[in-house]
Amino acid sequence: TQQIATNVHWHHGEVTREDRNRLMGQKGATLWFTGLSGSGKSTVSVALENTLFEHGKLAYRLDGDNIRLGINKNLGFSAEDRTENIRRIGEVAKLFADSGIISLSSFISPYRADRDQVRKLHEDAGFDFIEVFVDCSLAEAEKRDPKGLYKKARAGEIKNFTGIDDPYEAPENPEIHLRTAEMTLEQEVDTIIEFLKTRKLLA
Ligand code: PPS
Repeated sequence: TQQIATNVHWHHGEVTREDRNRLMGQKGATLWFTGLSGSGKSTVSVALENTLFEHGKLAYRLDGDNIRLGINKNLGFSAEDRTENIRRIGEVAKLFADSGIISLSSFISPYRADRDQVRKLHEDAGFDFIEVFVDCSLAEAEKRDPKGLYKKARAGEIKNFTGIDDPYEAPENPEIHLRTAEMTLEQEVDTIIEFLKTRKLLA
């Protein structure tokens, strides 16, 4: 039986968020990339990390496969497990934001309600949560099929594969909408950089 902790309270330190931001010369935030497998989430987050670094800003990537090999290795791809995957990552992203780092989270995160939970978690605590819809049609993602997973899903070797026999709920109001079949990687990064300037996360 599972034991849920009670009588647990947040312990405040003495160095404040503002102190950390001053020390870091930046403000923490979360950029949340969502899209189909093969849509380009990781590619754009890697490129953005480089560009932010060149601007003197520290970002840190949280990425699907890596997280699923580590803190979420006990989770699969059922609806419940995907929800728990996103919940935990949302909490981790918020810790990064609180530490003054810009976290770049790239997960399919197929359920709108799960993404909205993470948004609320951030916004209630006063952090920017920037949803980036990495938009590419299923046909295009399937054509790219970088890991050969769509082929396996079509053959019935992988069950509950997003876009094939599992849902993907596209964002309705993302802060940033990237159509990756029509944009160059450079244009995608520029679009995000310009948006970060409007939020004063970048000069
Ligand atoms: S989720 O839905 O947000 O919890 O998924 P995520 O943590 O981003 O993991 C997606 C990567 O896992 C691989 N994979 C699958 N994806 C979707 N559906 C099923 N059934 C599945 N099984 C394995 C796949 O490589 C995804 O990688 P990306 O980077 O998105 O291509």
